[in-house]
Amino acid sequence: MTDALWHNLQLCPHGNPEQTTRNAAIAVRAGKIAWLGALDELPAEYASLLKHDLNGAWVTPGLVDCHTHLVYGGQRADEFAQRLAGVSYEEIARNGGGIVSTVRATRATDECTLFAQAADRLTPLLAEGVTAVEIKSGYGLDLASERKLLRVARKLGEHYPVSVYTTFLGAHALPPEYAGRADDYITLVCERMLPALADEGLVDAVDVFCERIGFTLSQSERVFEAATRRGLPVKIHAEQLSNAGGTTLAARYQALSADHLEFLDEAGVAAMKAAGTVAVLLPGAYYFIRETQLPPLDLLRQYQVPIALATDHNPGTSPVSSLLLTMNMACTLFRMTVPEVLAGVTRHAAQALGEAEVHGSLAVGRQADFAVWSVDTLAELAYWIGRPLCQRVIRGGETVYVRPEYPQQ
Ligand code: NIG
Ligand code: FE
Repeated sequence: MTDALWHNLQLCPHGNPEQTTRNAAIAVRAGKIAWLGALDELPAEYASLLKHDLNGAWVTPGLVDCHTHLVYGGQRADEFAQRLAGVSYEEIARNGGGIVSTVRATRATDECTLFAQAADRLTPLLAEGVTAVEIKSGYGLDLASERKLLRVARKLGEHYPVSVYTTFLGAHALPPEYAGRADDYITLVCERMLPALADEGLVDAVDVFCERIGFTLSQSERVFEAATRRGLPVKIHAEQLSNAGGTTLAARYQALSADHLEFLDEAGVAAMKAAGTVAVLLPGAYYFIRETQLPPLDLLRQYQVPIALATDHNPGTSPVSSLLLTMNMACTLFRMTVPEVLAGVTRHAAQALGEAEVHGSLAVGRQADFAVWSVDTLAELAYWIGRPLCQRVIRGGETVYVRPEYPQQ
């Protein structure tokens, strides 16, 4: 592991543009941050480390994408065309398309192909400074196929320089073979799939799609009970298309996060606050399904619920492979501020994974995971659209990505 002193940089250690240090340095030893701060306060013991000059660039924690569905077969461009012609996302799902059409394609795709396709969706995130990503299953919906997706997710973390957190989303949709038997399917999820996959070490958290085209409150609760019995944290896709009350239920199970939330009401916000549940907002999905109901930003602010942002990469509602674009959308569509979106992809996103002590913030003793940006001000991260801004990514002290224009040190 390379010990080094990264210097001549502007430091934003917690993704908070009000807490920065100009002319700063980061000393790395054995892959961890040994010291960070203003260069003129550098302790003598680090002065002789190998030096890397970052020419005044900004440095933030590695970004965290805390909600993705990166592993699936096929694509849904045909449904996109239908939606452009006026058919709603919900209607397509009720007519046998939507999630279930991706389930058919995913079941028919082998593990190697799924890995290669998911890697193509992951690498643009890594080139934007992402060093931790959550990946959900949910397009298999039988034990063997869900296992295949979670194995691919784990393998991505072994082959690419990113920490992968897996989420079992067996309760994403009703598979066709269980039509009319949703409660029986939930029994399969709780009694067979979840225990088997958890025993195999494939599950870091458990998620449910609680919605009128997903699962009911009582079915969602059964999944949360099963997860809790295994000691696994829960999260929820909730209040995306209607207010079904999933957030309040999830808060009762101390959910790490409740995600989407366009139709969330004040009681749900209060429940999240009391439980310490993070609000994960997904502007890519809001944009792509042309939603008009805005998530309750003012209430979330008033109750000081931490707000995270994620790409929600998936083939149906958010074919987005850019966390920077997601930040831009959160500003333009949700009227979030630059400090809010920076927190949303760093410390709050890490909190949504239950990993706030590991990711999303730079501090002494933590793994040296940081992104180096070619910008004059941090606001530019949310401002430019479609332009590469990340010049270098350091993970565990090693350079794992460098844009070709920059020295390959
Ligand atoms: O996060 N809402 C449910 N799940 C995904 C969409 C899945 C799909 O349409 O394939 C989401 O929006
Ligand atoms: Fe999602």
